[in-house]
Amino acid sequence: MIDAMQVDYDGLIPNNVGLAADERVKKALETWHPGYIDWWMDMGPVGFQQALVYLRTAVGVGANGWAKFDYVKMPEYKWGILLAPQVPDRKVPFGASKGEPAWQEVPGEHRAMLRRLIVIQGDTEPASVEQQRHLGATAPSLYDLRNLFQVNVEEGRHLWAMVYLLQKYFGKDGREEAEELLRRRSGDADTPRMLGAFNEKTPDWLSFFMFTFFTDRDGKMQLEALAQSGFDPLSRTCRFMLTEEAHHMFVGDTGVSRIVQRTCQAMNEAGIDDPTDIERVRALGVIDLPTIQKKANLHFSLTLDLFGSEVSTNAANAFHAGVKGRYREDKLDDDHRLESDLYPVLRPVDGVITAVQVPALSALNMRLRDDYVYDCQKGIDRWNRVISAANIDFKIALPHVGFHRQIGEFRGLPVDVAGNLLTQSQWDTRRDEMLPNGTDQAFIEGLMAKPQFEPGKFAGYIAPPRVGIDNKPGDFEYVKIA
Ligand SMILES: [Fe+2]
Ligand SMILES: [Fe+2]
Repeated sequence: MIDAMQVDYDGLIPNNVGLAADERVKKALETWHPGYIDWWMDMGPVGFQQALVYLRTAVGVGANGWAKFDYVKMPEYKWGILLAPQVPDRKVPFGASKGEPAWQEVPGEHRAMLRRLIVIQGDTEPASVEQQRHLGATAPSLYDLRNLFQVNVEEGRHLWAMVYLLQKYFGKDGREEAEELLRRRSGDADTPRMLGAFNEKTPDWLSFFMFTFFTDRDGKMQLEALAQSGFDPLSRTCRFMLTEEAHHMFVGDTGVSRIVQRTCQAMNEAGIDDPTDIERVRALGVIDLPTIQKKANLHFSLTLDLFGSEVSTNAANAFHAGVKGRYREDKLDDDHRLESDLYPVLRPVDGVITAVQVPALSALNMRLRDDYVYDCQKGIDRWNRVISAANIDFKIALPHVGFHRQIGEFRGLPVDVAGNLLTQSQWDTRRDEMLPNGTDQAFIEGLMAKPQFEPGKFAGYIAPPRVGIDNKPGDFEYVKIA
């Protein structure tokens, strides 16, 4: 009997899945391991592979005290396979098989669907590491540098989490998929990552914070939906990943908040109360609020595309099969089958954006996206409290869900941030007031050109955090650069 709360650190791959007694999977993972390390060396953080980074490593999966902090060289990080404890007598919580015992093996009829969902989730994990690999060189502080690397190594671990499922439950095609996950590259013309937002650039630290706020939050929603799965190993994997994901969103949420705070502070000190006086604000060496808004518009709209088409047969099938649930499915009070329910979907009808009732089963992507938008808004409200506390008359707002979309009902339509359907030429004229333009990007990159690597010091455009990681003091050396 394996004590699932304990992690076995003896072998090459730390785990709480009894790998030592599972020769076949152990060997498959050990065979995959060198390719992973090669990928990490090639595509992981540039220039810091020998640095000592103050990282947390998971040492258990219990509710408290699951992580320990220490200095680690990233290539020596203990990437482990960790599943949340099994819930005794867990049942399939939704869909046609609702109420049956949760599956400990892959049901044959759902095999292809499960494999596809695991591969898509797995593909996003290394993609974000690739997107963020150049950011170390311009870090605003050692604290932020450490947070970047924490996110990176945990995304690496999330790849391990999905690869474990593939190797353990999907035989030969699982092995092949695991290889492919190391072969695709973010932004590559021939072998890109599977989803659009994961082929975009993350060119600066404001983008990084927006990415971890918006795009890691999509990750949270997808993991929440998969954590409900009737396939129990997937559910348990995702539940543990969610504990790590919370820190990624914290990094984004507080990162943007600290930039907003510094901007407001500098404006107050200089006696500038017009947030749209961009030239004067930028001259203070901080990022003006309208540009922060544009970055939010960009990352929000790119991330909405990750939810897929609002109306989707795949999503309906996955729910009906008991494979992918809704956000907090176990807390919802309905029949969990949705066979006769309706759900409103937004779509343009005769030039007017209208809520149309469609069968709830086919609208599950829309529903997850609605839950996501609600979750985002709570973070935006926190940023706005920083602005109003500084007595500055400006509010960051989420753009309309139809704005700047490449997938679904609004694909390619010239919808502005307020949700007005424009003509294409109106949209073209107004594009630069809604999305970062070349001048904005050049300003940001100029501002962030030099890193701040002195312990306890921060670049001029960002406020220090309120508390340190692991309660360390302000001047703690989070990264010892080699
Ligand atoms: Fe992740
Ligand atoms: Fe993440």
